[in-house]
Amino acid sequence: MTDIHVLLRELEQFSAYNDATVMERPRRMLNITRDTGEFLSVLVRATNARRVLEIGTSNGYSTLWLAQAALAVGGHVTTVELSDFKLQMAAKNFDRSGLSHAITLAHREAGEFLQATPDSSFDLVFLDSERSEYPTWLSDVKRILRPGGLLVADNATSHAAEMAPFVVLVSADADFNCCTVPVGNGEFLATLRTGSLLSC
Ligand SMILES: C[S@@+](CC[C@H](N)C(=O)[O-])C[C@H]1O[C@@H](n2cnc3c(N)ncnc32)[C@H](O)[C@@H]1O
Repeated sequence: MTDIHVLLRELEQFSAYNDATVMERPRRMLNITRDTGEFLSVLVRATNARRVLEIGTSNGYSTLWLAQAALAVGGHVTTVELSDFKLQMAAKNFDRSGLSHAITLAHREAGEFLQATPDSSFDLVFLDSERSEYPTWLSDVKRILRPGGLLVADNATSHAAEMAPFVVLVSADADFNCCTVPVGNGEFLATLRTGSLLSC
């Protein structure tokens, strides 16, 4: 087992080198930034999110941030990844971290996974995957979030134009309260209302 702090630093160095030298997108790690990991960790702990879903695992860097926080509140992370190559890297990193027991790694297409997931299954959903699909996934994401649950999406500022259709849709939905936080590549946050008809 590798100390989680040592492992996270190692993955940051690997990702920085890999993504600077490998141009093929499927082979790039495209990890969140360290401050985004710290932010996600605080969000999970502050909201006591015990059921966490991540869409887009890559090699598991962001999952490790989510998992250590989920474990601290007695929770669990489910993370969904389509690429076999990245899934295998993630599985090795989870084993090395000693956090495998707090992580379910699903080898699925995210849209299919979301459709098959029961209502109100998750307290927090983190989207870091194929941005053009987010508007299509939104109705299921909303359905599987519990009332009062938190949706977080990465790249709100780094890829603002690509994120715009999704951000517009969520922001126009009276069931969500939204904001964008300038951490890392920009985090779009939306909380699902608890059923009250009070406006923001
Ligand atoms: C930006 S990377 C995720 C990075 C990861 N969250 C991190 O910070 O360590 C996006 C990942 O989403 C995966 N992906 C893309 N489309 C997908 C889909 N439809 N279903 C599941 N995974 C998908 C890609 O293979 C890629 O590994």
